[in-house]
Amino acid sequence: MIKKIMLVFGTRPEAIKMAPLIHKLKEKDNDFDVKICLTSQHRHMLDQVLNFFEIKSDIDLNLMKPNQDLFNLTSSILLGMRSVFSKHNPDLVLVHGDTTTTFATALAGYYASVQIGHVEAGLRTYDLQAPFPEEFNRQITSKLCNWHFAPTELSQKNLIAEGILKSKISITGNTVIDSLFWVLKRIEIDKNRRDKLHRNLDNILPFNWQKNNFVLITAHRRENFGHSFLQICKAVYQLALSYPKLNFVYPVHLNPNVIKPVHEILSDAKNVHLIKPQDYEPFIFLLKHSLLVLTDSGGVQEEAPSLGKPVLVMRQITERPEAVKAGTVKLVGSDYQRIVKGVTELLNNEAKYNSMSKAHNPYGDGFASERIVEVLQKIK
Ligand code: UD1
Ligand code: UDP
Repeated sequence: MIKKIMLVFGTRPEAIKMAPLIHKLKEKDNDFDVKICLTSQHRHMLDQVLNFFEIKSDIDLNLMKPNQDLFNLTSSILLGMRSVFSKHNPDLVLVHGDTTTTFATALAGYYASVQIGHVEAGLRTYDLQAPFPEEFNRQITSKLCNWHFAPTELSQKNLIAEGILKSKISITGNTVIDSLFWVLKRIEIDKNRRDKLHRNLDNILPFNWQKNNFVLITAHRRENFGHSFLQICKAVYQLALSYPKLNFVYPVHLNPNVIKPVHEILSDAKNVHLIKPQDYEPFIFLLKHSLLVLTDSGGVQEEAPSLGKPVLVMRQITERPEAVKAGTVKLVGSDYQRIVKGVTELLNNEAKYNSMSKAHNPYGDGFASERIVEVLQKIK
């Protein structure tokens, strides 16, 4: 019998990580009837990814509101998904990761007695304030789900410690690596594509990015808004002053809580380049050509080690300790002194830089989606 599978997501990283799974599921049209439901918690940043991966939605709740709060977002997703589930009656719903879309959809699925599978299950900090609200979202999602696709052994261990049956968990690797390998291959084999990416960077960056080093920056965590975000921006400003020949490239997230301090503090620093959120392929191209990465992003922490880029994570704690353990990712928190010290150390100490820039893949081998599909085929 053909299984009716619905994938529900709403933000940029969920779309990047669900894209390879969507394509793999659609290849198996004898087994699955696949529907894509967007909450559209993000709009522009989500559409960028959908266009790139040529994904068309079947349902779009179109929920993004400027500067939306968690109360409105959570309740609109819950109500929206009630109607979707009642109309489409899927056999199984797949959610991803730890956003409000993930948690509210899993809750709606539980209320509607729908089977739910969780992709990227079992990541934990066990601190409900960091990251906020993601740690809560993913813990609750695990409670609500029937099937758990854990990227690593550690994430499986976390789930088992919380009482989830081992038989309901599969270690698959992270689908982010499937997407990464796919896009890197496309860039490698297609000269026209590479030329286009080169021209794009020539247009948006006012320095010779092939000759001159640059630090790539991304930041958007809710728990960093306010004081910590000012510290992050001031640290970048100080680094830009201390290293006038080094460039800092920062694709700024569209959250107004990010845009405001970033532009207020950094827009007059000559060697800091504030650019729009990049499409996925140009972003990976930027990552590939960067010297090092300063970020609070989850996905970027997973991608950069594959490319041998040292990552300084502007958070106190991470749910992705695998790369920290391997020595390519270092936590520097979100205070001014530690960020400046962390970057300075990497720039001034070649041995330290070299030891952090070893390429390795603790998060996957590019076949996570295939493994998830195999498990889904076996579910009765
Ligand atoms: C959300 C997720 C976070 C994830 C991040 C990835 C929650 C609570 N947060 O955070 O877990 O790491 O996405 O980027 O689920 N906006 C736009 N256009 C867009 C996207 C966002 O204008 O395409 C602006 C809007 O004003 C929106 C605001 O950003 O209201 C916040 O978006 P929201 O999804 O609530 O939070 P993020 O900080 O993006
Ligand atoms: N990304 C992108 N364009 C950008 C910045 C990031 O496509 O300008 C990608 C990046 O490659 C990664 C994902 O977005 O796969 C990370 O998203 P984000 O940092 O917004 O969310 P998080 O991973 O922290 O939830």
